[in-house]
Amino acid sequence: MRTVHTADLSAGERAQLPTMLRAAFGDRFDEHDLAHALGGLHVLAEAGGRIIGHAAVVQRSLLADGVPLRAGYVEAVAVHPDHQRLGYATAIMDEVERIIRAAYDIGALSAAAAAAGLYARRGWVRWPGTTAVLTPKGARPTPRDDGSTYVLPVAAVPLEGVLTCDFRSGDVW
Ligand SMILES: CC(C)(COP(=O)(O)OP(=O)(O)OC[C@H]1O[C@@H](n2cnc3c(N)ncnc32)[C@H](O)[C@@H]1OP(=O)(O)O)[C@@H](O)C(=O)NCCC(=O)NCCS
Repeated sequence: MRTVHTADLSAGERAQLPTMLRAAFGDRFDEHDLAHALGGLHVLAEAGGRIIGHAAVVQRSLLADGVPLRAGYVEAVAVHPDHQRLGYATAIMDEVERIIRAAYDIGALSAAAAAAGLYARRGWVRWPGTTAVLTPKGARPTPRDDGSTYVLPVAAVPLEGVLTCDFRSGDVW
């Protein structure tokens, strides 16, 4: 296991990362998803000189019921299909949560349906209210994300109302 900023990934690791993520996610993992995982910390699981597991923590601005929060947003949680169900995601999330608890007001992520149990069992809470995004044209509801947005509260955070994220290309959550 290794934690490294995007700036300190080797050229080989930068090339391996999208390949491993597409092996885990399939074609649904696009260039926006890769971009969302860059610019923060990567938690890597490695074996035989290859990346076999990954999660990124990037900083985003969230509003919880109008309260601005510095969020550690978790992206691209994946373990290569040849290495799944061996506890790698569990170990990766241990480190992700250490980072979030030490550095942010709240953790947040968008859970794939098949992975929601992994987060719920670890104390992540499905956002009980609704979700939205702050676009250049104002706040817009994101109803498709209402059931799949999970948070890990660190500071005293109001767990109610609308959770609003900053704007970006691709999937906003
Ligand atoms: C979701 C994902 C990251 C999980 O990775 P993983 O390394 O297999 O996860 P873990 O091994 O830590 O735990 C997964 C399961 O294996 C079980 N497990 C852990 N160690 C085990 C072991 N030694 N033997 C058998 N089972 C084990 C865990 O209890 C857990 O059980 P569950 O299926 O009831 O949830 C992986 O399946 C993946 O990459 N999926 C595709 C991409 C994706 O959807 N990512 C999530 C985006 S939100």
